[in-house]
Amino acid sequence: MSWKGKFSLIILLILLSATLAYMFRPGYDQVWSGDIIDTIKLPQPIIKGNMSVEEAIHDRRSIRTYSSAPLTLEDISQLMWAAQGITDSSRNYRTAPSGSHTFGLEAYILIGNNNNLEQGLYHYNPFNHTLEQLTKDDVRSKLSEASSSQEWVEKAPVDIIITGNYQKFVDKYHDEKLSARFINNEAGHAGQNIYLESVARNLGTVAIGSFDDEKIHDILPIPSIEKTVYVYPVGHKID
Ligand SMILES: Cc1cc2nc3c(=O)[nH]c(=O)nc-3n(C[C@H](O)[C@H](O)[C@H](O)COP(=O)(O)O)c2cc1C
Repeated sequence: MSWKGKFSLIILLILLSATLAYMFRPGYDQVWSGDIIDTIKLPQPIIKGNMSVEEAIHDRRSIRTYSSAPLTLEDISQLMWAAQGITDSSRNYRTAPSGSHTFGLEAYILIGNNNNLEQGLYHYNPFNHTLEQLTKDDVRSKLSEASSSQEWVEKAPVDIIITGNYQKFVDKYHDEKLSARFINNEAGHAGQNIYLESVARNLGTVAIGSFDDEKIHDILPIPSIEKTVYVYPVGHKID
């Protein structure tokens, strides 16, 4: 083969591998690829409670001591809905705002062994208000270790984990700084909803931002495209 032929072949191979790499890049649609052990239909969220939004804002505090009492399925339903529930089904808009309605967050809940649901990690599916069970392991102590050994992560009956799919924003805006800002801000809105819903249900929670992201991903089978933004232990507060 002439050198021109070889050169064209090399260019062709480079173009082909670049195209394949682009086509099979980890896209933002990458989701849990393992089996879903079980799907739990959550009770319909209630939108009328006993407390005004002003009272909930006023009474909100970070709570780090919980009794061992389990949460009810209604508690779990309200918390997940508050974090990421769909409130406008015609456009799939959610309880928390999202820059350019990109919706880059995912919500998970780690259920401990003393609860009304089987222990394990569940992914919240906002589109049908269900929990998808991904594992059967109670790894709260490992999650606590990964969270600077904060004991409230282990002691709470459940831990909500909010992750962000930064790639979803990067694909849209082609700006990594803006994407990180947007997803972190979005998580702040979802997190405040978890706080306020907890107050309204007489539960306690605290935003956990101090953790080792990579350790969390070693413990929990969260898709690699997502990054943990927050952990929220939730339980019945001890006054
Ligand atoms: C981004 C962020 C990260 C936080 N990380 C932690 C944490 O890792 N552990 C913790 O106990 N509290 C954490 N907190 C809670 C703060 O300590 C708490 O909000 C602050 O002390 C004020 O108390 P308040 O929430 O009761 O008003 C965090 C709060 C925010 C906003």
